[in-house]
Amino acid sequence: MGVVRVYLFLFLFLLLSVCCALETQSLLRLKESLTNSERALASWIPNVSPCSGSWTGVVCFDNVITGLHLSDLGLSGPIDVEALAEIHTLRTLSFVNNSFSGPIPQFNKLGSIKSLLLTQNNFSGSIASDFFSPLKSLKKLWLSGNNLTGSIPESLTELELLKELHLEFNSFTGRIPNLRQELRSLDVSNNKLEGPIPEKMGRFSARSFEGNEGLCGKPLEKTCDDVISTMLPAAGKVGEEEYESGWAKRVIVVMVVAAVAAVIFLFASSSSRRRREGDFRAVSRSSNAEEVVEVQVPSVRAERREVGGNNKRGEIVIVNDARGIFGLQDLMKATAEVLGNGGLGSAYKASMTNIGLSVVVKRMREMNKIGKDVFDAEMRQFGRLRHPNLITPLAYHYRREEKLLINEYMPKGSLFYVLHGDRGLSHSELTWRTRLKIVKGIARGLNFLYTEFSTYDLPHGNLKSSNVLLTNDYEPLLSDYAFQPLINPSVAVQALFAFKSPDYEQNQKVTQKTDVYCLGIIILEVITGKFPAQYHSNGMGGTDVVQLVHTATSEETEAELIDSELQSESSNSRNQMLKLLRIGAACTESNPEQRLKMKEAIRRIEEVKV
Ligand SMILES: *[C@@H]1O[C@H](CO)[C@@H](O)[C@H](O)[C@H]1NC(C)=O
Ligand SMILES: *[C@@H]1O[C@H](CO)[C@@H](O)[C@H](O)[C@H]1NC(C)=O
Ligand SMILES: *[C@@H]1O[C@H](CO)[C@@H](O)[C@H](O)[C@H]1NC(C)=O
Repeated sequence: MGVVRVYLFLFLFLLLSVCCALETQSLLRLKESLTNSERALASWIPNVSPCSGSWTGVVCFDNVITGLHLSDLGLSGPIDVEALAEIHTLRTLSFVNNSFSGPIPQFNKLGSIKSLLLTQNNFSGSIASDFFSPLKSLKKLWLSGNNLTGSIPESLTELELLKELHLEFNSFTGRIPNLRQELRSLDVSNNKLEGPIPEKMGRFSARSFEGNEGLCGKPLEKTCDDVISTMLPAAGKVGEEEYESGWAKRVIVVMVVAAVAAVIFLFASSSSRRRREGDFRAVSRSSNAEEVVEVQVPSVRAERREVGGNNKRGEIVIVNDARGIFGLQDLMKATAEVLGNGGLGSAYKASMTNIGLSVVVKRMREMNKIGKDVFDAEMRQFGRLRHPNLITPLAYHYRREEKLLINEYMPKGSLFYVLHGDRGLSHSELTWRTRLKIVKGIARGLNFLYTEFSTYDLPHGNLKSSNVLLTNDYEPLLSDYAFQPLINPSVAVQALFAFKSPDYEQNQKVTQKTDVYCLGIIILEVITGKFPAQYHSNGMGGTDVVQLVHTATSEETEAELIDSELQSESSNSRNQMLKLLRIGAACTESNPEQRLKMKEAIRRIEEVKV
């Protein structure tokens, strides 16, 4: 008995110490994701427990983190919800009176949250109808004083414990869902709601509903009879069903208009008025932001008058006419789809059916350090590059605070996607022959870049599998290269993969050898089929492929690292795989002095045979 208890104690002790170390990491990641947090959350430092009482806004109970009260701190930027979701004990979350903008983050991943307070920010866009379904414990929801649009999510009706609902001072439209809970407080005033107030809500004061012209019924003085009759198509008796379908049609029309307006808004909104950020933000399902995923319906508030026909600013400059000429008009007619959010900005696919061309439009917010003329010259230089293993940009659009870069769309996606994209998708299409073709193509593309940009510290700078696109027959195309001189230095450190190398992390220095390291990671990724931990900025998750291969080399067990999908290849091929694996190892030596030179790496890759 005594022994059992000691073990149990040890077990709990280990469990608890592991749990809190992890939560400290999660909070630090949250801090890292926020802007302005360096000062506001200066008290969040490693080696001091979040529950010590010194961490701003962290609320603990019995040494367990139960709340984050981050009000009035001037915080903005993306909120790392994945990090928050790792704190399973979190019950209350308040970001009241900060400067967050864009769509509401995926807080619905925080399954046990009881209070979600987001009042007084600049959140915008609509909230998916089923957004709140997973939040069964939610008691308080405060979204007041934002710029939210669309309908009030229907899933609020499913939250049996909901007591307080504050949605005032937004731009919600449509009807109030029929909430049957016993709410303690309710405020939906000053929105654009319409239709009848559900019966059960009639007991609140008129003040909870004022400022919504289309609302009717108790407690307001306006009765619903007049309102409904104006909405119905024809006189005569109309049943509840037709009334409903009328609403459904209106919703569809609004959505179509929203989609069209969103595209117009994307390409033509005026620069004199700063755009609300994140209207198009895609929300990553996994913790890897490059992987593409779930799309929020974009904000509807596109101001059409800004689009007005003769907007000179909205010019698209073609730098490479190999795929034809297109203009703003064609892009405005295209259907757009969010592809994802990378380190440098978000990307969309636009299909211009009228000219039969699909393009990827990348919004770059962090290329502001150079003026228009220099930017134009750089883009034209990119536009002249021709190599079978390089994406040559097609066009750009310049505005002072953001740029759009337009590339051809590759239906197969990136090497990253093919290797790790859909879980369960086998790599069987990736035979040894194909993988070697990809690695050789990457090497040839790099060889070209190292000639064209030979004076650059980082001729590529952002080499990773998500920036290697694949043609239908698996010819690799390098993209997002040679950006370092264009982007703001602080962002380069955040966004370019070269800055995640040991060269930068240990010596704050990047050189052409750093690209070699990145190439090495891809080689190891391709041979092992594993997701490199190096792609996560915090090093959590994935496999440290560098560590793995260096250990295997010293233990002479390298053969075990080869992707199991390649088992059936001949032993001759397996010897060639090991040869490539060793090149990968030599490219990822942590000391740049001991690492291969790019030319040498390329030469050795060319020697590997199928
Ligand atoms: C909101 O936060 C700011 C600091 O970021 C503070 O100065 C201001 O007083 C706060 N407003 C309210 C209404 O509390
Ligand atoms: C929201 O953004 C507007 C400008 O778009 C700004 O004037 C306002 O101060 C912001 N509000 C908050 C609460 O940060
Ligand atoms: C909502 O957005 C408008 C402009 O888009 C801005 O002027 C206003 O301040 C925002 N509302 C809040 C509460 O920040």
